[in-house]
Amino acid sequence: MALMQWTEALSVHIAEIDKQHQRLIALINQLDDAINAGNDHDVLGAVLEELLDYTRTHFRYEENLLKTNAYPDFDGHKAEHDSLTEKVVFLGDYFKRGENLNTVQIMQFLKIWLEEHIMGVDRTYAVYLNAKGIF
Ligand SMILES: [Fe+2]
Ligand SMILES: [Fe+2]
Repeated sequence: MALMQWTEALSVHIAEIDKQHQRLIALINQLDDAINAGNDHDVLGAVLEELLDYTRTHFRYEENLLKTNAYPDFDGHKAEHDSLTEKVVFLGDYFKRGENLNTVQIMQFLKIWLEEHIMGVDRTYAVYLNAKGIF
């Protein structure tokens, strides 16, 4: 079973952002599936790399959107993004060195982080943009 499910509860009511969040969830599920299937180091490494790439793409997209629209808590939002990106980079480095990782704990962390971020601060900026009539 997929680790994460996109439901209406995760919608921020901005179609492009919802689409990007769905892709992030799909990549997290892909990584979880690859772990559960016992895929080899190279396969896992490739999926992890793809997740990191797309996370960066999504964060950059949001940060541009917030900056362009003079979002008051731009710095706070970006700090959350930077903190997660840093953790995923560390994770990739540990993985490349072949260190033992608690994958169950890592996948739970990613799932909860994304859900809380989307339903918390992402939704807050979406309400702001909606109120300004941007979407
Ligand atoms: Fe987001
Ligand atoms: Fe965000």
